[in-house]
Amino acid sequence: MDIRFQNTSGGEWRAACTLVFLPENSTLEACSPALLNQAPWLGISPALQDVKGKKNEQTTLYGHPDLALPKVLACGLGPEKKLTMQAFRLAVAAAAQTCRKKGYETLAIPAENAAFVATLLGTTRIAVLKEAVTAALLGLYRSTAFKSAPKADAPEEKDPRTLSILFTEKETPDADHRAVREGEAEAAGVLFARDLSNAPANALTPADLAEKATCLAKRHGFTCTVLDEEEMQRLGMGALWAVGRGSALPPRFIVLEHCPKGKENDAPIVLVGKGITFDTGGISLKPSANMHEMKGDMGGAGAVLGFFEALGQMPASEELPRVIGLVPTAENMPSGHATRPGDIVTTLSGKTVEILNTDAEGRLILCDALTYAQQQWKPKALINAATLTGACVIALGDLGTAVFTKEGKLRGAILDAAEQTGDLVWPLPLWEEYDPNLDSDIADIANIGPREGGALHAALFLQRFIEEGTRWAHLDIAGPGYVVKKTALHPVPGGTGMGVRLFCQLIRTLSKAVFA
Ligand code: BES
Ligand code: MN
Ligand code: ZN
Repeated sequence: MDIRFQNTSGGEWRAACTLVFLPENSTLEACSPALLNQAPWLGISPALQDVKGKKNEQTTLYGHPDLALPKVLACGLGPEKKLTMQAFRLAVAAAAQTCRKKGYETLAIPAENAAFVATLLGTTRIAVLKEAVTAALLGLYRSTAFKSAPKADAPEEKDPRTLSILFTEKETPDADHRAVREGEAEAAGVLFARDLSNAPANALTPADLAEKATCLAKRHGFTCTVLDEEEMQRLGMGALWAVGRGSALPPRFIVLEHCPKGKENDAPIVLVGKGITFDTGGISLKPSANMHEMKGDMGGAGAVLGFFEALGQMPASEELPRVIGLVPTAENMPSGHATRPGDIVTTLSGKTVEILNTDAEGRLILCDALTYAQQQWKPKALINAATLTGACVIALGDLGTAVFTKEGKLRGAILDAAEQTGDLVWPLPLWEEYDPNLDSDIADIANIGPREGGALHAALFLQRFIEEGTRWAHLDIAGPGYVVKKTALHPVPGGTGMGVRLFCQLIRTLSKAVFA
């Protein structure tokens, strides 16, 4: 769906269906007076009696079909006092879905309606428009790559072609243009990540993931290097290699870089994403129930690659810092070549790890990536995202992301960013009292600790590979990376693209305020 801009100075507004958002006890006139000017029939529309502004309420108001604005979809936001940006996003996504169902091809939102919602939320019209655009695009997501033909029972479900933002000649839409393009870019990144998580492991191997990263880099002018299993071994990435060796599909290590001109010598922000294309558990085999969901064990990789896709589509800006994305990717399989419980490997850091459980593979591929980041650069911040532990899902539920970091400023920036994006992120501790639980009898470190506090033990394992002075944060997205429950913003069960918007938001604030 294209996003366009219309201005009354260029003629009358034109759209098959105009969306208007209103809270309880409000009127269309209050929410969007110019719309009533452009579509005077609205004032006497019989369906107005149904417009109450209740949450989830959608009322279609019909004018004559030959009019420039023949239909309005009035969308309720519920009580004004309780309104949140997330509730607004959900209302927009649901409205976009309704329009698709009805076959409306051109949609519109009056900018003044966005301004009205902005006053309710205590934010700006620009911010609301950006969220509206993003939400509409996320709500229209579907996964079609693996269907042989469009659904025969819903031929009328054509995607809307355009969403227009409607301005009057009194409004100057310059900053809005930029915000809307940002919204489009971020949505594209999220959808990119969703597609990766939803792709089955036979269609998205570690080599395929590397190929996707290479194409992405070509598309947007980033640099991308891919290390294969031989280079990994030569460098000494023994942990990543040990996870990959059980599979017939060899592991890869992806290095993506965005470096704005003149920032070649800047310390980069490094983002690391877990890219297990399928997690059987290896020799420590998982139970078979719902094992297919482990095709989504590359949600961290999706967050990083989706972030770069968004970055590539973002309108030009000098504010963006140098960013590097690292994706260690492998398939965790049992086989005659697979790593056995009890095997000891030497990691890139030189530390040895006793692999007591081959299902704790995420931390193994991540530790080599974290070491690589610190050996190659002196990162301004080193942040990883990973579908790392079932224990995190037990702790925070299926929508909660745990953030582990000792850096107060970085934690603050991450929590602020999450507040902006509507993601549910909460800190968990890195208590050093638990750290000895990871000591191994015969190697430097064991790859598992006790089951209790599993998410913390995984984080403490990663921390063992963080050098003094590195600003590091770990995001456990085991729950929200892949969600079976649908919502208007997440209409296809499976990959969510969690992390993409968070990284986009975080990169802006980190470079501006935190480490400036
Ligand atoms: N990929 C899983 C974690 C996971 C579980 C992600 C559920 C999404 C949903 C990870 O590799 C894993 O298997 N972790 C083990 C660690 C344990 C063996 C210490 C776990 O959480 O059970
Ligand atoms: Mn596992
Ligand atoms: Zn895993």
